[in-house]
Formats: sequence, C-alpha cells, structure tokens
Amino acid sequence: MHFASWISSLTLLAASAPPSGEEDVRALLPEATTVRSLALAWPEEELRAIAMAVGRTEGPDPAFQYFEVEAAVDGKSAKLRAGLVPVQGKWGAMRVAAAVDERGTVVRIKILGDSKNVAEESFLSQFVGRWAPVQIGPNSRLSLSSLVEKRKEAEEGSGEEAAKLRTLFHLKEKMDEIQLRADGLLGAIDRGDLQVAAAQARNLSKEIGDVKPLWKDFAPVFLDAKDLPAIQALVDATSKACDEVAASAGKGDAKATRDVYFQAVERACGRCHGYDDHRLRKPLQKAIGEQRDALGIGQGFFLVGHDVVPAGPHTIDDSRVVALAIKEILLRLAK
Ligand code: HEC
Repeated sequence: MHFASWISSLTLLAASAPPSGEEDVRALLPEATTVRSLALAWPEEELRAIAMAVGRTEGPDPAFQYFEVEAAVDGKSAKLRAGLVPVQGKWGAMRVAAAVDERGTVVRIKILGDSKNVAEESFLSQFVGRWAPVQIGPNSRLSLSSLVEKRKEAEEGSGEEAAKLRTLFHLKEKMDEIQLRADGLLGAIDRGDLQVAAAQARNLSKEIGDVKPLWKDFAPVFLDAKDLPAIQALVDATSKACDEVAASAGKGDAKATRDVYFQAVERACGRCHGYDDHRLRKPLQKAIGEQRDALGIGQGFFLVGHDVVPAGPHTIDDSRVVALAIKEILLRLAK
C-alpha cells in the first residue's frame, strides 16, 4: 500500500471508530490519572430493580460501562467510579457519563458527543461544556447533592438566606407549573380542541392569580418595596390575558385564539420577566437567575432521585432521556 494512502485510511479508521469509553471518561474527568474499564456481572434481579426505578418497561439494558478512576484533585489522589450510558434523543446519539467519589457523592455529570443542539436547551445545557455544573474540589460551583442541602435549609432554616431560598424554590416551582400549563393550553389550541383550551386558559388564569401572595415575600427582598404594586398589576394583567384566551376559545375560532395567546399571554409573561428591577439593576428574570447562582441553587432543575422538572415545551422528551440515563448510572454506581 502506498504510504500516503495508508496514512489516510488509518485516519479515516480513527475518525469513524466509535469513541472508546475510556476517552469519554477522560473527557468527563480531565484530572484522571488512570482509567480502568471493568466488566461487571450484573445479577438479574438488580437489573430488574434498576429497570423499574428508571421506568424502563421494555428494550434491552443500555450498554452500561463501568470504570474505576484515579484522579488528582487539589494535589491529592482521589478514587472515583464512573459510568457511561449511550442515549438516543431527538438531537441524535450521545453518551451520558457520571462519576461519584468513594462516599458515593456525585462529582460530575456530562453529556458527551456533538452537543451543539443540547447546549441550547436549558435542562440539558447544564451537562455540557467546560463548566458542567458538578465539579470536584473546593472551587466547585453547584454540586447536585448540595441542592438537597439547600432544599433542607429552605425548609428548616430560619435566617435571611433560608427565607430567600424558600421564596426562590417556591417561585421556580410555580413558574415551571405555569409553563407546563401554558404549553398544555397552546397544545390544545393547536389541536383545535377549543373547549379544552377554554378550560385550561381559565385554570392558568387562576393558577397565576393564586401565586399572588408569593410576591409579597418576593418583592421586598428582590425588588424595591415600592415595586410590589407594579408586580401585582403584572400578575393581574397576565391572569386577564388568560381570560381573554378563554373568551376567544369560547367563540370557536382556533386561529384567532392562537393570536390572542401570543399577543396577550406571552407578552404579559414577558413584561414581568423583563421588568426593570431597580434594586438589582437588571431585567427581573435575569436578576433572579443571578441571585439563584449566588445562593448556590443555580438552575436547580435536577435532584438525584427526583427525576426531572421538564425544562421546556419541545425538550421534555430529551430531558427525560438524559435524566433517566443519569439515574441509571447513579443506581449502578451505588451498587
Ligand atoms: C409577576 C411576574 C411574572 C409573571 C407574570 C410571569 N413570570 Fe415567569 N418568572 C418570573 C420571575 C421573577 C422568574 C425568575 C425565577 C427564577 O429564576 O427562579 C420567572 C421565571 C420563569 C421561568 C423560568 C423558570 C426556570 O426554569 O428558571 C419560566 C418557564 C416562566 N417564568 C414562565 C412564565 C410564563 C409561561 C408566564 C406567563 C403565563 C410567566 N412566567 C409569568 C416572574 C413572572
């Protein structure tokens, strides 16, 4: 074989070969000094229990790979365990990798592969890039298990920080619920199911109104106290926009109802998200995002063992696929 063509066919081979698990684990843990792949035999009943826990009712077990890793963390050697599971989402084929330390604490989780599309999606984006949220060491940003501690502090603490956490957890929960309901409403309009849409719009209106007391805790801490009436007015305007959708749906014209949804409801949501926060000197939603980071609860989407809070209208499936892969890995590493 001619030398040049031998070289190029070698390169081709290298480019088309699937990445070995070891490479993925090294991408997950660049501080790894040794990575050892181990073939473990999984007892049938453990596999069944894990399948049940992740809601896998059919299909083969994912091609789980197990690794023992030694890593240099802050100049000291740490023993870690890592797992790798291939996933197939709407965005294509990827791998999910996670590592835990000797105590079983999650030290890092990443999605590997071509992550262009994934990076645009809020839940998944936390697992891509250099700053995947879980990092080892004292400079660590948010660790997943610290979310559990923050929840506990929010529930049981009595100080100022606990009060902030409580308010922000509550707000996020409500906003996610409102988003889910809004997605459901838009889905019903798009299906032309206007009776259902009218009922959902009324529910959404009520849901938004019900959150009103929350803003009494929120405004004095995260805004100027004098902003409370303006925020309450934005809440009322959003509820009213949902009532307009309900009224339009009642008239039976799906296209007109869709227009009202976008012109009234989406705008009303956006007006509050973009509200000028005088205290924090930023548009409200952005300002609160930064507060969340500062309080160590970041995006706060994911608690191990609690599955996923859906992150967006078109991405719930992919979020679930990844969340369940993470769960699978963590359950296997816990064995
Ligand atoms: C009165 C103000 C207000 C109104 C009205 C409002 N929001 Fe929000 N929303 C917020 C604030 C403040 C945040 C930031 C919360 C955070 O980051 O924890 C937020 C965040 C969100 C988030 C992001 C949650 C996350 O994962 O970080 C979604 C989704 C959302 N809102 C949906 C909606 C929808 C849909 C509507 C309208 C039907 C709406 N909101 C109306 C104030 C409002």
